[in-house]
Amino acid sequence: MYYPDELVEEVRMKSDIVDVISGYVKIQKKGSSYFGLCPFHNEKSPSFSVSPGKQMYYCFGCGAGGNVFTFVMEYENYSFPEAVKLLADRAGINLPEAEYNEEARRKESQRARLLEVNKEAAKYFFYQLRSERGQAGYQYLRKRQLTDETIRKFGLGFSNVTSDDLVKYLKSKGYEDKLIQEAGLASFDEKYGMHDKFWNRVMFPIQDINHRVIGFGGRVMGDAKPKYLNSPETMIFDKSRNLYGLNFARTARTNNIILCEGYMDVIAMHQAGFTQAVASLGTAFTPGQANLLRRYVSEVILAYDSDGAGVTAALRAIGILKEVGLTGKVLNLEPYKDPDEFMKNLGREAFEERIRQAENSFFFELRMLQRDFDLNDPESKTRFHREIAKKLCGFSEEVERENYIEAVAEKYHIGFENLRNLVLSYAAQTGLAVPASRPKSGIQSRPDPEENKRKPQKLLLTWLVEEPAAYQKIKKYISPSDFTEDLYKKVAEKLFEELEEGTLNPAAIISLFSDEEEQRKVAGLFNTKLQELSTKAEQEKAFHDIVVAVKRNSLDYFSRQLGTDVSALNQVIEGKKALEELSKTHISLN
Ligand code: UTP
Ligand code: MN
Repeated sequence: MYYPDELVEEVRMKSDIVDVISGYVKIQKKGSSYFGLCPFHNEKSPSFSVSPGKQMYYCFGCGAGGNVFTFVMEYENYSFPEAVKLLADRAGINLPEAEYNEEARRKESQRARLLEVNKEAAKYFFYQLRSERGQAGYQYLRKRQLTDETIRKFGLGFSNVTSDDLVKYLKSKGYEDKLIQEAGLASFDEKYGMHDKFWNRVMFPIQDINHRVIGFGGRVMGDAKPKYLNSPETMIFDKSRNLYGLNFARTARTNNIILCEGYMDVIAMHQAGFTQAVASLGTAFTPGQANLLRRYVSEVILAYDSDGAGVTAALRAIGILKEVGLTGKVLNLEPYKDPDEFMKNLGREAFEERIRQAENSFFFELRMLQRDFDLNDPESKTRFHREIAKKLCGFSEEVERENYIEAVAEKYHIGFENLRNLVLSYAAQTGLAVPASRPKSGIQSRPDPEENKRKPQKLLLTWLVEEPAAYQKIKKYISPSDFTEDLYKKVAEKLFEELEEGTLNPAAIISLFSDEEEQRKVAGLFNTKLQELSTKAEQEKAFHDIVVAVKRNSLDYFSRQLGTDVSALNQVIEGKKALEELSKTHISLN
């Protein structure tokens, strides 16, 4: 980190979170907190809360949360030092320039160095595209109807025909061979020495949600293979957790995201004004990416290629979207192959119309399923109806299932009662009809054993922040080492220290983490939804249960470490004793 902790803390104390956020979002006081529409996802009723007491914000809809620095980082797409700088300026605090010295630089992590070398490479490719030697690339992009503005917006570039240009350039800038190789920009071999990975290709820099270049895709200008060459995964380039175009799409403020297959598709859609388009990175769509999208929208429109491979990929993606609770729709691009070609031929208004007509993903699945059956043959038709009934069992919520049965019966001319009975008979066989509630607004309701372990730990941390006095009642039984997740333990260490000294300051704890994702998680820990319990007896019972659950989980955890970890034995002995005592103790809250 660039600035000393005390200075960061001074900036934070002088930046009241309600003041700062009011400058960006309309919030209104309700009880002890302020509420408003979340700026990080699309919603109609306010679930975004700002707590002046905790000096934190948290969205109960999408899980965005943190302190005043996190907010500026997320809203402005700033890095941590940039957010500190903005708020320091606002509060009239001078930051020492000297903090950006050599010493601090050397301490920068490998991550930062990889980001730097990628950024430098992107600049180099960008420059090449505009030079004499890059004309072939530039003409190629223009021929594909990209405007200069689009080329600039996406930072497109060109890698030369010569095979060690980039390496030479990066070395002249002081980057070592090892780093250049680790970034996947070059490789080494005995015969040729260091040589560029990309040459004679138009270059697509891949950016994370904060616009930082994390890798590249490079396209040949002719028919050579492979058509696209991509950077390998590195410490900063996780293909399953990033999406091409999301750095722009996240602020598109539409209520859907359009998911497609190719870089060029994303670019063509953005150029036509559909700035909510994203693509996966030359790999299949993953649950990690679906979760990422869930932070911004509740509906995803699939604009996959209209060929066989595209349909198969779309069917897989639908399953993944469903798993994380996102609504899926499918765009029909016929008679064109992909969004890029569609746009070129029919233009933005026709595309807009296709978005309006996008098909419900369940009906799309049925339509694809139907291709395997001959509806003129009663035998085959019956089998098709059975398959439909089986699929309908997948809706565990009764209202939704009934609605679908009705719609499907009408669409496929099946008697409603007949179909319903068929569904119920399958449901009875497979037990799928149990009306378990579907995941809503980001909260997974599927039982997850890991989550069951984490939940009490989160509840306890929130409780202690809400009611610091409770700490005195439990410190005898619970220590930070009882928190079995690394992040929780780190947070607990700091929190317990503050509670011990009577200087509770949860917003400052968040500043100990410089990674946005970690800050979000920590904010989540302090904002777990505590059950509304009216009587004191109920509250005391709930609190007791949480403490016991945390202790029991810790005991299980350390019991499993016995034999490998010498300190585990003490923890186990202590844990057993504490649980025994807890079972006889009434914890009173006041
Ligand atoms: P497509 O083959 O559909 O190409 O690959 P495209 O996006 O339509 O590209 P253009 O229009 O011919 O330029 C879709 C995506 O799959 C990945 C890339 O991410 C590409 O955008 N891909 C494809 C590769 O990674 N390698 C390849 O060789 C081909
Ligand atoms: Mn294409």
